[in-house]
Amino acid sequence: MDLARNGNGDELLQAQAHIWNHLFNFINSMSLKCAIQLGIPDIIHKHGQPITLAKLIDSLPINRAESSVYRLMRILIHSGIFNKAKISENHEEEGYILTPASKLLLSDNPLNASPFLLAMLDPILTDPWHQLSQWLQNNDETPFKTYHGDELWELAGRDPRLNQFFNGGMASDARLIGSLVIKNCKDAFLGLNSLVDVGGGTGTLAKAIADAFPHLNCAVLDLPHVVGGLERESKNLAFVGGDMFVAIPPTDVCSLRILLFVVHLLLGVLLNL
Ligand SMILES: C[S@@+](CC[C@H](N)C(=O)[O-])C[C@H]1O[C@@H](n2cnc3c(N)ncnc32)[C@H](O)[C@@H]1O
Repeated sequence: MDLARNGNGDELLQAQAHIWNHLFNFINSMSLKCAIQLGIPDIIHKHGQPITLAKLIDSLPINRAESSVYRLMRILIHSGIFNKAKISENHEEEGYILTPASKLLLSDNPLNASPFLLAMLDPILTDPWHQLSQWLQNNDETPFKTYHGDELWELAGRDPRLNQFFNGGMASDARLIGSLVIKNCKDAFLGLNSLVDVGGGTGTLAKAIADAFPHLNCAVLDLPHVVGGLERESKNLAFVGGDMFVAIPPTDVCSLRILLFVVHLLLGVLLNL
């Protein structure tokens, strides 16, 4: 082995650890997905005080040794999803508690981010990442097309499960963003009479804006399989099925969170952010 070419022993081990960190990064997201699927944030929340490993295991629908759950929780504590605290002042024993991140994953939190997380980690959306290098060498617009043979929106039009979990995930993320936009960006809506949320999904963001600014006529433009069948819930919110590349209803302003999402994903890929 050519140690001279690869630095001294310390550097070599650090380089290997750096590679391993990259290599096994997916364990963080997969462990988080597992915790949500097992309902761990809700179990800790309902317990009302730090929960011991034994009590957590008793509440879980699992068939594994204690050590597996211990290791799962260790990963998630390391990544800041959960924490540990003394069960009470008089006890030395520790139990698991929620952090601000896992509070955002509770099923009764109106801003619950779990549907977004489960959607983004569904194999339909993660499998295409295995095709990144092929995609860079072909002419497909996205790795999704390289893997599935169709673009996401085309497949969602034919696959009701994908359509449902994708729109549900987007809606959960939009609830959080919508609440912040309305709280912090009120001035941006002053003087406007109309707004179209282009690629606005099932209308969560537009509905929040329409409710907060009743003088504003809002419309959601999205593909027919997304908005078809959605009822107008407020008198200042309409759903329009169509293709944004063909026509966008006349309006004072367009909201384009669809673009932010795509740019965010692309930057994530290109800059490893
Ligand atoms: C990333 S999602 C964003 C959804 C929503 N704006 C949000 O922020 O939660 C992109 C949305 O754009 C829609 N979309 C994709 N292509 C479209 C097109 N050509 N015309 C209209 N909508 C389109 C998809 O159906 C999807 O709902």
